[in-house]
Amino acid sequence: MADLKTTYMGIPMTTPLVVAASTISSYIERVKMAEQAGAGALVIRSLFEEQIQFDSLRMDEALSVGEHSYAEATSYFPKLQHGGASEHLMWVEKTRKAVKLPLIASLNAVSLSGWTGYARQLAGTGVDGIELNFYSVAADPARSGAEIERELYDVASAVRAEVKLPVAVKLSPFYTSTVNIAAELDRRGVNALVLFNRFLQPDIDPESESLHNEMSYSTPAELRLPLRWTALLHGRIHADLAVTTGVHSGKDVARALLAGATAVQTAAALLKNGIPYLSTMLRELEGWMEERGYERLDDFRGKLSQKHADDPAVFERAQYVNLLLSQR
Ligand SMILES: Cc1cc2nc3c(=O)[nH]c(=O)nc-3n(C[C@H](O)[C@H](O)[C@H](O)COP(=O)(O)O)c2cc1C
Repeated sequence: MADLKTTYMGIPMTTPLVVAASTISSYIERVKMAEQAGAGALVIRSLFEEQIQFDSLRMDEALSVGEHSYAEATSYFPKLQHGGASEHLMWVEKTRKAVKLPLIASLNAVSLSGWTGYARQLAGTGVDGIELNFYSVAADPARSGAEIERELYDVASAVRAEVKLPVAVKLSPFYTSTVNIAAELDRRGVNALVLFNRFLQPDIDPESESLHNEMSYSTPAELRLPLRWTALLHGRIHADLAVTTGVHSGKDVARALLAGATAVQTAAALLKNGIPYLSTMLRELEGWMEERGYERLDDFRGKLSQKHADDPAVFERAQYVNLLLSQR
């Protein structure tokens, strides 16, 4: 039987298939099902500093209602403060106690002190690693790409220095030079890069002339974007690579591994088909490996990365014209 064991950012895993940060981690039962189905690890949904700030503001507003009508009202009650991240931290601790599989906490903060402070608190919950989720839309015309990248590096370095746990950075696909950014994060000691975060894309309904911002699940076609960049990076940096977006089958897991991924994350496929589908994906991967005589993942990992592929230029070809010329 094929051996699916791997080590992702220093964490030993029984399989390379990781449950991506999502609502799957909002239910202990689902986390247990993922463990039983053979998940190598599970990423817990992100702790969002913005959400904490928003909730805290709303609580302050609610508490200040009537404050001015009754002068004694404020002095009657002790000063109430928002609990910050405590609810999320308690949830992570509860999840930690419920399962044995490796757990990775995810963080999306706003301020540098938020990134380091919450990372430290998450590290105290007993998780095995931390994924930094840089999910923001660069919509401020006054902020240059260089400035945004510098902030990314500062945050990664500060968190790396703050916690002993392995740290992964989940990147957006919209940087000018993904390879350059990956190399710099690698120099700063980041243990893994997760390619890529998937942004909500608002839509416009011309009938009602209104905006729609519904969450739509990925399709397998979207896997090509992380595949290319994983293939370009494999063997060129020390950090491990994890693919996320568009992984819907065992063959998709094989694709990501052939490109050079150490771990392969999936969310939409499990939300659509149910958590036990994870074991179907693993059986398909095993079947695919056995057909080819692969005994372990290292027998084929990165085989089709740019470094090892017969036609390395494939990954740099950008226009259809090149494709057409090469076929002539
Ligand atoms: C319902 C849902 C919730 C998600 N929540 C998070 C989150 O909290 N943090 C994060 O980094 N990514 C989050 N994601 C993104 C996933 O981790 C993943 O990167 C993305 O869905 C692409 O993978 P997929 O094609 O396998 O769905 C979420 C995705 C879904 C569908």
